[in-house]
Amino acid sequence: MKLKLALCLLIAQWSMFNGQWSMASAQTPVYLDPSKDIEARIDDALSRMTLSEKIAVIHAQSKFSSAGVKRLGMPDFWTDDGPHGVRPDVLWDEWEQAGQSNDSCVAFPALTCLAASWNPEAAQAYGHALGEEALYRGKSMILGPGINIYRTPLGGRNFEYMGEDPYLTSRMVVPYVQGLQSVGVASCVKHYCLNNDEEYRHNVNVIVSDRALHEIYLPGFEAAVKEGKAWGVMGAYNIYKDEHNCHNQYTLNKILKQDWGFDGVVVSDWGGAHDLDQAVKNGLDMEFGTWTNGLSEGASNAYDMYYLSKQYQKAIVEGKYTTKELDEKVRRVLRTFFRTTMNKQKPYGFLCSEEHYQTARLVAQQGIVLLQNEGNVLPIQPAGKKILVVGENAIKMMTVGGGSSSLKAQHEISPLQGLQNCQIVKSSNCQIDYARGYVGDVGGSYNGVTTGQNLKDDRSPEELIAEAVEKAKTADYVIIFGGLNKSNYQDCEGHDRKTMDLPYNQDKLITALAAVNKNTIYVNISGNAVSMPWRKQVPAIVQGWFLGSEAGTALASVLLGDTNPSGKLPFTWYESLDQCGAHSFGEAAFPGIWREGKKVIDEEYKEGIFVGYRWTDKQKLKPAFAFGHGLSYTTFKVSNLKAQNPVTTDGNMTFTIDVTNTGNIEGSDVVQLYITDVKCSVERPMKELKAFQKVTLKPGETQTVTLTTDRRALSFWDEATDDWKAEPGEFVAWAGNSSDRLTCKVKFTLK
Ligand code: GLC
Repeated sequence: MKLKLALCLLIAQWSMFNGQWSMASAQTPVYLDPSKDIEARIDDALSRMTLSEKIAVIHAQSKFSSAGVKRLGMPDFWTDDGPHGVRPDVLWDEWEQAGQSNDSCVAFPALTCLAASWNPEAAQAYGHALGEEALYRGKSMILGPGINIYRTPLGGRNFEYMGEDPYLTSRMVVPYVQGLQSVGVASCVKHYCLNNDEEYRHNVNVIVSDRALHEIYLPGFEAAVKEGKAWGVMGAYNIYKDEHNCHNQYTLNKILKQDWGFDGVVVSDWGGAHDLDQAVKNGLDMEFGTWTNGLSEGASNAYDMYYLSKQYQKAIVEGKYTTKELDEKVRRVLRTFFRTTMNKQKPYGFLCSEEHYQTARLVAQQGIVLLQNEGNVLPIQPAGKKILVVGENAIKMMTVGGGSSSLKAQHEISPLQGLQNCQIVKSSNCQIDYARGYVGDVGGSYNGVTTGQNLKDDRSPEELIAEAVEKAKTADYVIIFGGLNKSNYQDCEGHDRKTMDLPYNQDKLITALAAVNKNTIYVNISGNAVSMPWRKQVPAIVQGWFLGSEAGTALASVLLGDTNPSGKLPFTWYESLDQCGAHSFGEAAFPGIWREGKKVIDEEYKEGIFVGYRWTDKQKLKPAFAFGHGLSYTTFKVSNLKAQNPVTTDGNMTFTIDVTNTGNIEGSDVVQLYITDVKCSVERPMKELKAFQKVTLKPGETQTVTLTTDRRALSFWDEATDDWKAEPGEFVAWAGNSSDRLTCKVKFTLK
């Protein structure tokens, strides 16, 4: 008897713990049984939820969280920014940070740097490390990665994205998503779609051809969903076909959910929902940031005022809607719960582990691009030399600011610190001196996170330049760290840049220094290309990106030769905006033209599919630096391109290419394969990137790389059939290590 009683008590206790008062079933409820099929668990959970519970899980309850179902033992759902690191906790309904002392993070390099590594393995490690940091912080969804296409060098958030090419973006976003989700943290790929500039992001109605939409702007998202199996997608603020992208029947219901089979949740951007009926019917699943207008004020009961909150519930009760759309939304939310908060297999996570710093360093080192190195000024030979470091970007912290991707980094090594920390510098009586050179943004706080730096300097530009020039006259090397700095209009969310030119009088500074020192090196810190009128006067130029916590360590290792640079540009570096398609059709194409008396600005992507190198090829323009360009401290030869099957009927191709390290130190290079459709019924780009591989080679070593492509690589989007189409005929494949250095080609035929 006692045993029986004990057993009953045990079952009662157990079922009570799981929020089930029913004494009856000793059976684990299906929705709580991890051994059951996830769809069965969803059905079971849905059947147990009340209308109020269903409404509660489809909208935010605080700045970054939405409700679980406590009665059923399903925890609240916490999201957080951002693509480069886990944002500090904020107050319940504020943007201000909560001032915790345990939420400093590793700031990973910005995604343009990751893209510039052209290394999918680095992307996987990046996503995995970020996922561990998110887990440790109790976040179930990271609001990233951002993958909008770099359509113009003025795009304020290009630093958060992966460049101008849809194929490179596709190859780099998939492993990032897989790495992140491998530890049970959902990605939320953003900003879907056509959010390619910032100034009027809430009002821009993008007009774009179906070809450009499918061939340029969607492939990254398609790959993230179909290959990466992304669990979340964030709707963008802007408008397409006159519907906001957070509730858009074309992009969300048709393309994302029906055509691509997306089974996760569509999350609004903060304040991106604008209409109840569209929010109900056009594919939105979780509404965030509404009424707090996404960015500033909130109302006392803001969350009840959301479209997908009380007003939706009232409309259902009044019979305006059945629960058809609601149940579909809740199914997707439940699927996300079972993948994240209810996933008992996920690991614990780590914050600021050495492994994460290693990943941040590796991505930075692999993403830094050596643009120019006349006379092999680089790498620096420091022994017994005097190095003058110049520029605000040599000392300014960059992990704070830029908008929602701003972070509270546990540490950030500045370029100057990175050089000073180097053992080789310390042990070879190398002297490092510093001159400010220019004053840019002396701020240094965002949402209550401050850098703690006092960058105040009241000297005039002339005094600042004079001081630097005087010191440069007696230095063996001058390294200028300039560029942008994530302050407003300088690579920052919410605003586009007004010009491609460097701000803060930097052109004058760089020109003056190059005039007095033949070993002048310019390191550009930015997420965007900048115009370089002094390019011919400066022997060495390095693109340094926003590199995060390990910025200085990575930059110093490249500049001093411990790391052989291997980054390649993920976008075309125009000489000026005149070389960019988006700026070749007047203001209708950028930033757009306001509709009379409306809060809508129509922006027509008149350049169509001719974005980036596709444009400069078509117009026969020579950019400052080409897409895919990046030098090394050694040299490489790409040769012997062969098509294993010169005639294909299914469109699948296999190519082999030899890559040789023709120099005398180990290095990595990226062999790139571009394809030309020789004759087609529609206009196509001269060439398009369709495969690549990064290889590391010892001096003299040759590797034969095998690259495969499929029928999609030969196809264009056929507007007549609303589908991909590869026309039989002749194609050419080109191979090389930059889009302007294709050293071999081979013809092949699609039967
Ligand atoms: C911002 C951004 C988005 C971010 C979200 C939450 O407005 O557009 O990228 O994830 O709001 O901060």
